[in-house]
Amino acid sequence: MSETVISILTWLHVIGVAIWLGGQIVTAACVVPALRTVGDRTIWLDALEGFTRRFGRVGIAAMVIIVITGGAMIDPRLDWARSYGDDLYDSRWGYIFVIKMALWAVMIALIGLHQFVFGPRQLELARESAGAEVDTPELRRVRTITIVLSILGLMMTLLVAGAGAFLANHNFSMLPS
Ligand code: HEM
Repeated sequence: MSETVISILTWLHVIGVAIWLGGQIVTAACVVPALRTVGDRTIWLDALEGFTRRFGRVGIAAMVIIVITGGAMIDPRLDWARSYGDDLYDSRWGYIFVIKMALWAVMIALIGLHQFVFGPRQLELARESAGAEVDTPELRRVRTITIVLSILGLMMTLLVAGAGAFLANHNFSMLPS
């Protein structure tokens, strides 16, 4: 694969990463706090549900781009890393790549739990207690879990991006381990 094609793949990979990471930050720092200021709870719950549904689709599309472009770059980079030996762990690149994939799997698990399990459950519970004076203990428990999952998901995303940066610095990564 030519380095021109790899540059284009890197471009798309980084755009996907920008959408994935930027979206998480904008959601947590701007969208959710802004929606909470809307007085009527059912209105902000409707808005939040509409937002998360659309944002979920954008996030999945971004992750598909990230995985396809990242996956396409593995072989050419491995060819280079193999100049230090056939074992994946003979080069720093191989080590960092394995760490990156492990972090990626944990990140997907955390964000998936948030997006498909605890987030929808929180919305459901919030709707049930929309007219109540105080939140139910179950709603408070689920809200705490979704907040923890968001923070951990963001931290893992930052770590995966960091591993990508170390991989792409070939003066560092393309050396024997
Ligand atoms: C299955 C998922 C992924 C695969 C297979 C993958 C694979 C790769 C590969 C092969 C490279 C090129 C490294 C090199 O030039 O030697 C790369 C670069 C990079 N990746 Fe990923 N990646 C994945 C997911 C992610 C995710 C989720 C993020 C961020 C949250 C990320 C962030 C980066 C960054 C920042 C770079 C460096 C780009 C540059 O400046 O050259 N990657 N990735």
